[in-house]
Amino acid sequence: MRLVVVKDKKEMNAFVGDMIAEVIRAKPEACLGLATGSTPEGVYEYLSELYRSGKLDFSRVSSVNLDEYIGLPKGSPHSYAHYMETKLFGNINIDRNNAYVPCGYGNIREETERFNSILQKKPRDIQLLGVGSNGHIGFNEPSRALHSLAHVVTLKEKTRFDNSRFFGSIDEVPAQAITMGLRGILGAEKVVLAASGRYKKDAIQAMVANDEITTDVPCTFLKMHIDFTLVVDEELAGIRS
Ligand code: F6R
Repeated sequence: MRLVVVKDKKEMNAFVGDMIAEVIRAKPEACLGLATGSTPEGVYEYLSELYRSGKLDFSRVSSVNLDEYIGLPKGSPHSYAHYMETKLFGNINIDRNNAYVPCGYGNIREETERFNSILQKKPRDIQLLGVGSNGHIGFNEPSRALHSLAHVVTLKEKTRFDNSRFFGSIDEVPAQAITMGLRGILGAEKVVLAASGRYKKDAIQAMVANDEITTDVPCTFLKMHIDFTLVVDEELAGIRS
């Protein structure tokens, strides 16, 4: 694992954005594994700006998103499809036919099969991740067993509580989601996880304090990846207990 400590969110966005840009410049037809939530917002702004200033071309890039809520109506502003459109896809020249976000309504069993077949057909050159305060990656929640394939997951109360900041209340946060499994995440050529904020400290500690891997803290599985970069800000890096 490579641990990178950056000063603040601005530096984090530039560092992670440059990592992704480098992958695209080296391989214009790269496939990106993408995340949603607060963490990648600034990274997507940074990448959008590289595109606007003519420094990066997404015309041959493809992408696969990590997850989507189940049960939100089509076009919901809370959906990750909407998030991706507003935060990234709408700002760059990616071909929407090559940008896959799992669909959280309709026949979910069929969608899960489709997700798995896309993961097989489109190996990711880089996977961008955030981490939940309980250590989830994608929506692979702490559990007795983790899944390797894409699957439907019941979200933990903690996750619904954390994500209620994007909704009106916790009751509006969907109870289930469709997510990439561990094989999909660890199958990427490179993995980069960015984290900031005190409430992520337990998850980060579990990654850096020792070499243990546990399904209780799913992000610990990233220790097995040979090209894994963990980017944290100074505040998070400085927390001892
Ligand atoms: C999002 C995702 C989640 C988030 C995690 C952290 O697609 O898969 O694992 O990365 O919940 O979310 P933020 O960045 O909002 O703290």
